[in-house]
Amino acid sequence: MNLIRGKIFLIILIIFIVTAPGSVVAQISMVMTHSKRGVLPKGCASCHQSHGAPATMLLFQREDICFSCHSAESASEYKGTDIKSLFLKTYRHPVIETSKDHFKGEELPERDPSIPRHVACEDCHEVHSVRSDKKTGDVSGYTRYGTKRGRAGYEYEVCFKCHSDSNNLPAEQENMRIVFDPSNPSYHPVVDYTRNGSVSIRISLKNRKIKCSDCHGNSDPYGPQGPHGSDYEWILKYNYNMNDGPETPFAYELCYQCHRRDSILNDESFKGSPDMRPFGHKGHIVYAQTSCNTCHTPHGSEEYEHLIRFNERVVSPDSSGLIQYINVGGGYARCYLTCHGYEHKEQMLEPPVGGM
Ligand code: HEC
Ligand code: HEC
Ligand code: HEC
Ligand code: HEC
Ligand code: HEC
Ligand code: HEC
Ligand code: HEC
Repeated sequence: MNLIRGKIFLIILIIFIVTAPGSVVAQISMVMTHSKRGVLPKGCASCHQSHGAPATMLLFQREDICFSCHSAESASEYKGTDIKSLFLKTYRHPVIETSKDHFKGEELPERDPSIPRHVACEDCHEVHSVRSDKKTGDVSGYTRYGTKRGRAGYEYEVCFKCHSDSNNLPAEQENMRIVFDPSNPSYHPVVDYTRNGSVSIRISLKNRKIKCSDCHGNSDPYGPQGPHGSDYEWILKYNYNMNDGPETPFAYELCYQCHRRDSILNDESFKGSPDMRPFGHKGHIVYAQTSCNTCHTPHGSEEYEHLIRFNERVVSPDSSGLIQYINVGGGYARCYLTCHGYEHKEQMLEPPVGGM
């Protein structure tokens, strides 16, 4: 115990020395939000209490430390943004329920399948280094190659700590490291940019990439950002009807944030089967009223190009037992499957001579 106290004292001493006014660290810490005197004038003591001996540095109770400032009922003089209310929404990271299972020095991804899943603020935020241009601060991560990283370089590396190789991953959940792997036939450009590009894209892209938190986040656009909680299932920022129904701008609001609705519905990309009258995006989405989710995954497809992954709750095998997508180029496809009782078999013809 004395040894540990000694160690902590040494660490604190070093921090005091290197953070002396004018030092490089002091200059760096100017950008770290919680170290700014203008934000938390009491400095370390805002969160750490010392009882007598300088070596005993006690934290307030873990689950509540962030909420002691980041909640509507906070009585703190130095109140931060209210984040707590987001964790009371229907769809949320289970921080309030499970943060007690977080401990300093834990190993993520979890190896032991019997350990309950948890998530705490500290899993996604390194509290001392959060800053406006890197809100997660220097928190640890897990790379696309499956290796641990002391400081995550990309947001997705933070997510991969719990949504990839964890041995306690829920059975129905995809391993995000595998589905976003750039060697797959297609994927949304989170880990790497795509080779195929998009016809309908309506946003300008920094490095031609997007983030998990572009889709997963607060459904209130004026509230605090981040994948904390949302009114929409799967903590989505925008509405996404995953079941069949009429097409409206709201039904597929999520996709239409980045893809032009007019381009999709004018069949600029998916034109249909070469053997049939045009029945591409518009035919399927507007007339047959099927969701994007019937044909597309939002993450990545290990099987097909263009994010094709059939929703097998809607699509079933054809009479010869096949479910298959064949990309024939030029925006045309052949599919072998049954959908709404309609077997896509008529399409099993040779492509018309000279194409369409
Ligand atoms: C906004 C709240 C907050 C402020 C301000 C803060 N800390 Fe912390 N500190 C924490 C939390 C929370 C932890 C535990 C982190 C975890 O569990 O991952 C922690 C952990 C630590 C640890 C590591 C203890 C261990 O068990 O490894 C040290 C050392 C430390 N803080 C020193 C400082 C110093 C020095 C300052 C002032 C420059 C400071 N802290 C300011 C919240 C804060
Ligand atoms: C003593 C009060 C206090 C405590 C405790 C506290 N914060 Fe903060 N925090 C603030 C204030 C004030 C701000 C600046 C206003 C804002 O952005 O919310 C802030 C900002 C932030 C930001 C945004 C940084 C930026 O520059 O945009 C993050 C992220 C954050 N805090 C996370 C945490 C986490 C995680 C914890 C618990 C481990 C925590 N805070 C504990 C007061 C606190
Ligand atoms: C420390 C672990 C941890 C980290 C890091 C983490 N999550 Fe989670 N996440 C969870 C847990 C636990 C759940 C609850 C369901 C489960 O067990 O997967 C969850 C649920 C979710 C859900 C909803 C899934 C559902 O079943 O409703 C989404 C979406 C999600 N996380 C996205 C993210 C994103 C994006 C990141 C990175 C910014 C991230 N998570 C980082 C642990 C984590
Ligand atoms: C283009 C939008 C988009 C992006 C980018 C995205 N997601 Fe999702 N995510 C969704 C949608 C839509 C669902 C619900 C439908 C589904 O699961 O197929 C979902 C579901 C999930 C789920 C729960 C169910 C499942 O599929 O396992 C988790 C966990 C998740 N996402 C994590 C992540 C992580 C981590 C990242 C970044 C590495 C990410 N997502 C990037 C849109 C997105
Ligand atoms: C945050 C922005 C964003 C959202 C939201 C989004 N996409 Fe994308 N999508 C992109 C980007 C960026 C690309 C790749 C563009 C490029 O590289 O030129 C892309 C590409 C695609 C591709 C082509 C992939 C390929 O390899 O051919 C499909 C299919 C696609 N998106 C479907 C969807 C669907 C379905 C939704 C709704 C669930 C959706 N997208 C939501 C940004 C987004
Ligand atoms: C019946 C299946 C099906 C449905 C439903 C469907 N798509 Fe597609 N989509 C495809 C196919 C097949 C392609 C590939 C076309 C090609 O060969 O280029 C595609 C391509 C795309 C692309 C890539 C080309 C581009 O425009 O950037 C995007 C984006 C896309 N779809 C978005 C959507 C959205 C959004 C919805 C729902 C509103 C949707 N899709 C519904 C089958 C479908
Ligand atoms: C699953 C990961 C995850 C968890 C858990 C999490 N955060 Fe965040 N948080 C993020 C990400 C990622 C962002 C940055 C989003 C962005 O770049 O827009 C963020 C942003 C923030 C911000 C800045 C919001 C803004 O709009 O400026 C605050 C404050 C914050 N988080 C506090 C907390 C607190 C307090 C907790 C725990 C009660 C917590 N977060 C739990 C991932 C998480």
